[in-house]
Amino acid sequence: MSKKIFSGVQPTGNLHLGNYLGAIKNFVELQNKKENQCIFCVVDLHAITVKQDPRELKKNIRETAATFIACGIDPAQSIIFNQSMVSAHSEAAWILSCVSRIGWLNRMTQFKEKAGKDKEKASIGLYSYPVLMAADILLYDASHVPVGDDQKQHLELCRDIAQKFNNDFTAPDFLKVPEPLIQKQFSRIMSLKDGIKKMSKSDPSDLSRINLTDNKEKILNKVKKAKTDTLPLPKEAKDLANRPEAENLLRIYSSLKNQNLENSINEFNEKNFSTFKEKLSEALTETIEPISKEIKKLLNDEKYLDTILLEGSVKADKIASKKIKEIKELVGF
Ligand code: AMP
Ligand code: TRP
Repeated sequence: MSKKIFSGVQPTGNLHLGNYLGAIKNFVELQNKKENQCIFCVVDLHAITVKQDPRELKKNIRETAATFIACGIDPAQSIIFNQSMVSAHSEAAWILSCVSRIGWLNRMTQFKEKAGKDKEKASIGLYSYPVLMAADILLYDASHVPVGDDQKQHLELCRDIAQKFNNDFTAPDFLKVPEPLIQKQFSRIMSLKDGIKKMSKSDPSDLSRINLTDNKEKILNKVKKAKTDTLPLPKEAKDLANRPEAENLLRIYSSLKNQNLENSINEFNEKNFSTFKEKLSEALTETIEPISKEIKKLLNDEKYLDTILLEGSVKADKIASKKIKEIKELVGF
């Protein structure tokens, strides 16, 4: 059955292996099933929920678009656009924020993490950000939303918002309730420096992540310095308990090799980390180096990237402006 796919990535720099294995790799697989209709959004309105340098933001919007393309998203087949160019996103976010309940948003764990200790000083945008995310998805009647594990709660909220809108305005099935698509084994790639911390764009240590723009030398160095423990690799999956670094590295290897964790465990059965790290570096270089080279090539052609985003936004706007018109009609405007 054909799926309507929508997903977004924030243009906040340092796109990394977690973004690739947890999300973008899946975008490409979904796109390659010809019957699916795919829309991938550079969510710049989300990015400004924390302070951005305007020049950096502009650069990062192009870099995110370049990353999509370098990873295999084909602009002739999928829509690639940036959120701020389609005004319906902001309009729908406002209307949906009047349907959403404060109690629902108060439960969002990502806000608590991102706002840190001084919540009073966080922007209102950071707090209401999941409502904007719901608007993104619901404007396109998306049936499936591929994301990493950290977005699961936001998608549940999106489903609640859709159902409440449909109820409040007696419009059964008007907003389509989307299904999350979360890769079970690879939905949460952890830091190379700490196996219980998520790999993240904002980690101050560059050694904690493999960036999609890293060259071979950087990849080798980061794998060499990746944290491990003193035991050999495990014999069975159950031996991974309390060995978060070993588990993370084996998961990364499995995802790159398109095999399940058990296969990787058998492959390195009680070998030492130096043998494994060699193979891991090889697999990482094989996947990341071509992407990183292609990103650099694409970034030299800003005109091309701007044209892709402009053409994508015209296509997206056609879909979203029709939906927002219907939403306004239902609300009574
Ligand atoms: P963001 O960079 O926060 O916009 O995230 C873009 C996509 O990458 C989202 O679907 C996230 O869930 C996913 N993602 C981000 N970090 C990780 C990670 N460490 N492991 C797996 N997926 C991730
Ligand atoms: N909130 C997502 C993140 O931080 C990005 C995002 C925005 C998104 N809108 C979306 C993801 C719609 C899926 C669908 O990663």
